[in-house]
Amino acid sequence: MSAELSRTRPIRCEPASGRLAVLDQRRLPHETVFLELRTPAEVIAAVQTLAVRGAPLIGVTGAWGMWLAAREAASGPSGRRALEEAAAGIGAARPTAVNLRTAVERVLRATLAAERREERVRLAAAEAEAIESEEIEACRRIGRHGLPLIERLSAARGGAPVNVLTHCNAGRLACVEYGTATAPLYAAHEAGLAIHVWVDETRPLNQGARLTAWELAQAGIAHTLIADNAAGHLMQHGRVDLVIVGTDRTTAAGDAANKIGTYLKALAAADNGVPFYVALPASSFDWSLADGLAGIPIEERDPEEVRWVEGWDGRGPARVRICPAETRAANFAFDVTPARLITGLITDRGLCRPDPADIRRLFPEAAGGAAFPSC
Ligand code: MRU
Repeated sequence: MSAELSRTRPIRCEPASGRLAVLDQRRLPHETVFLELRTPAEVIAAVQTLAVRGAPLIGVTGAWGMWLAAREAASGPSGRRALEEAAAGIGAARPTAVNLRTAVERVLRATLAAERREERVRLAAAEAEAIESEEIEACRRIGRHGLPLIERLSAARGGAPVNVLTHCNAGRLACVEYGTATAPLYAAHEAGLAIHVWVDETRPLNQGARLTAWELAQAGIAHTLIADNAAGHLMQHGRVDLVIVGTDRTTAAGDAANKIGTYLKALAAADNGVPFYVALPASSFDWSLADGLAGIPIEERDPEEVRWVEGWDGRGPARVRICPAETRAANFAFDVTPARLITGLITDRGLCRPDPADIRRLFPEAAGGAAFPSC
């Protein structure tokens, strides 16, 4: 990762100076602005408004939010209660990504061993730092394990660009470094393989158009932005060799929740024989669930996000309504792709089929739905 890319790492925490800052992703790609977060309430607001977003990143941000909570909380039992309340509040800021709740609970558990405020602050920072490093390493490994998929396709195409389609942003902006779905793309690009990425715009908030396109442009990876509904057409005409998406929560049986529209891409991929992979770190598995359709909570967001589109009009940010003033909207933020439509999972421990036995082969300690401490 180049120095330029690291400079825009989407989260920066300096426990020594007491500062936590996040890249405000609502303003990308037009402006690069960092937002300082000083309180757990500000962390919750940043997560809910998607200033910070993406499953691993909201987990890391939530963990640092618990460090802010530990700084605010008194010593003794009242401080402990304050920490428990902060964990409940931050953990519920967004419901679909399992990473958020798991990370927050992990920091809470770490701090409960101490009675004194200073010790809790120290333990919270150490745990948040560990979670952040683990996520970075997990993404690096996803890149390593996903690379051979692209190498094989590249060889089959005689070195012609491999066309990879991705949805939403499962890149480093969603994950601190490398990304999940993008990690194999960065690895392939670094290995000198020719690749080209079809970037779904990802309505309503356009994370593909605004964030994935920005990331790929920064990395010098060839890409083309497409309307959300174009993927099926491209697949029918042999113009997609591989789909890789991220996930906010994947069950122990391999059902994967991701940004709304992912399921339709999986249907089109299945109909056209295009391999469809979900890339994820251990922290995005929910070991307590098998049936994703029944069990994964799907966030419903403000319908105004569907009725209005935000962009840049050449002078500054602009917002326009795209429907009649009286038209109501509904805003389902995620959908679940059943395991039967997924070719494979690219995890930080390697590739597996999306079925309980093969997932358990890679993550044997998760059997029985036990909480999974780290990757
Ligand atoms: O609503 P968002 O922008 O947080 O949605 C993010 C996604 O759907 C990503 O694909 C997902 O978090 C995977 S993270 C690498």
